[in-house]
Amino acid sequence: MGALHLGVNIDHVATLRQARYATTPESKNVEPDPVAIASICERAGAHGITAHLRADRRHIGDRDIDRLRASVMTKLNLEMGNTAEIVDIALRVVPDEVCMVPEKREEITTEGGLDLVAHRRELGPTIKRLHAAGIRVSMFIDPAREQVEAASDLGADIVELHTGKLANAFTEKFEKQELDRLREAAVRASNFNLQVNAGHGINYRNIAHIHKIPHLTELNIGHSIVSRSVFVGFETAVREMLGAMENYGG
Ligand code: PXP
Repeated sequence: MGALHLGVNIDHVATLRQARYATTPESKNVEPDPVAIASICERAGAHGITAHLRADRRHIGDRDIDRLRASVMTKLNLEMGNTAEIVDIALRVVPDEVCMVPEKREEITTEGGLDLVAHRRELGPTIKRLHAAGIRVSMFIDPAREQVEAASDLGADIVELHTGKLANAFTEKFEKQELDRLREAAVRASNFNLQVNAGHGINYRNIAHIHKIPHLTELNIGHSIVSRSVFVGFETAVREMLGAMENYGG
């Protein structure tokens, strides 16, 4: 088992920029630049950069994605909903990986996994088109048996298990329940020869629980690293997370 990889989600660097400059993107004062931060993350040892191009462009914008494609040296993972507009952008930009996520305009962040059983029919053709362009395809799913099976049936390369419920568990009982679900889903996915990633709500404390999930290849982490960077800077925030991910037993 190799080392656990870290993909840094830089959406919230763009969130900060948009808080001030959403209506004046032409301003000479626009900051901070998520693309510059992506380079710092890579220099600090991140194995990939993740960004979500949402239909409403609330944080990352089209130009960010083009600039990321040109500058990311490790691996660019584009999170996206399955809409014609965004799929066309993915096919033009050709990120290394795409992670298909559900997307509701009113949600603050991606709240649940993509329901592959309900959306099987629309997802199949999109996955084929992305594969034809040489893009590896990940599915962001809840850790449920039928979702893992559907990911395999659909021909996905990767599943990203939604760790939000574990991260937000209020009681130890619920925490254990959710951890059991994640472990079972990881074993099942690995048996289907799917790469197993995890993401959502992972921070410097609950990473200890993530170590108990087997077969993981990569974690995608955004909010906690961006938050930590306010105190210590991005380079240190990324290094600290990589430190917390060390000695993963698989
Ligand atoms: N993975 C996926 C698929 C996501 O949608 C998100 C949130 O954008 C993340 C990982 C990162 O979550 P967080 O910001 O809570 O670390």
